Amino acid sequence: MAKINHLDDNLNIEGKRVLLRVDFNVPTNNGSITETSRIKKVLPTIKFLINKKAKIIIISHIGRPKGKFVPGLSLKPIAKKLSHYLNQNVVFLSETIGLKVIQNSKKIPNGEILLLENLRFNKEEELNTQSFAKELSKIGDMYINEAFSCSHRAHTSVCEITKHIDSFAGKQLVEEVNTIKMLVSGAKKPVTCIIGGSKISTKIGILINLIKKMETIVIVGAMANNFIKHKGYNIGKSMVEENQENLLEDIIKQCKTNNCDLVLPQDVLVAKNHNSKGQLKNLDKIDDTDLILDIGEKTIQNIFKIIDESKTILWNGPAGYFEVKEFSAGSNKIAQKISENTKNKFLISIAGGGDTVSAINKFGCSDGFTYISTAGGAFLELLEGKVLPGIKALEIN
Ligand code: 3PG
Repeated sequence: MAKINHLDDNLNIEGKRVLLRVDFNVPTNNGSITETSRIKKVLPTIKFLINKKAKIIIISHIGRPKGKFVPGLSLKPIAKKLSHYLNQNVVFLSETIGLKVIQNSKKIPNGEILLLENLRFNKEEELNTQSFAKELSKIGDMYINEAFSCSHRAHTSVCEITKHIDSFAGKQLVEEVNTIKMLVSGAKKPVTCIIGGSKISTKIGILINLIKKMETIVIVGAMANNFIKHKGYNIGKSMVEENQENLLEDIIKQCKTNNCDLVLPQDVLVAKNHNSKGQLKNLDKIDDTDLILDIGEKTIQNIFKIIDESKTILWNGPAGYFEVKEFSAGSNKIAQKISENTKNKFLISIAGGGDTVSAINKFGCSDGFTYISTAGGAFLELLEGKVLPGIKALEIN
């Protein structure tokens, strides 16, 4: 297997212009940043480059502006946040390429930081073009990809760029890729995967890939509604994805063939709407007006038992509508239990995906996991066994 070209710690990069691709695609509300995990995640790399006295030029995208300037999607507020975390000035430039950017990249003192405007304000970013890559490459003497969460996109700043400048994988990216790959081959057994979220069709690739490698798969969240319905129970007004019968049959069949235990909820918390009080019900008691919004206590206890018996756990997708306290117990208790066993019982725990990370942060368990991936699509695609274009672009033979 080809190796990723990673940065050697001993390389002398003093005074070198390092073009650092990060993923500052963070949730915002009216221009203010509401979740900062992705910013915090790259701080060690930035600090490393500061200590090495490199000139640091950071590039990122935020949102999907589709090649147009969208004021609400400027990276300017991130410069302020970054400056606060690093306790040093971060110069923001409202351009991404061009003479002014090149001049500034040369002018900044060693160990200082320049943050450029949203890459996706230029339509060529998503088209993976040579012309845009060449322009970007003029801004640095070398390039580092520290944006694992964008590496499933064949975009200019993660793919084509690597053909025009000396390119390396950042430390966090290498760690993230290795951790996820360890999960699919070489994890300590028994391995359990807890999969939740709303759509079964978006997770089918991972499920099919993981069934062959894991001892147990637990399905929670709205995804489980499909299975509950498939077993013949009424699921009332609950969220369900239509026409997925073949997928469900396939998952059930593959689990049997591969000796993988498929664990589904035994009881659920239902309500008449998202604002009303929850009622614990066995599956055969769900009525036409019920909405399933969380897993029930029997299910939680069963998941606890499975966590206790596991040596490695992968968690992706919340167990219920955790944003509302009334329906957050399932996700909260899973987060607490994994965290407890990671700290006290040598459990290796890996979590990933935007909602799962938000849930873990909300329940104060972020330091209780062995590894938390802030990536969404890239995390899932690597688990599916896909080749990510941004990682491929960094490979050396
Ligand atoms: C992500 O949030 O998964 C990455 O930043 C990629 O963003 P995208 O889905 O808009 O390409």
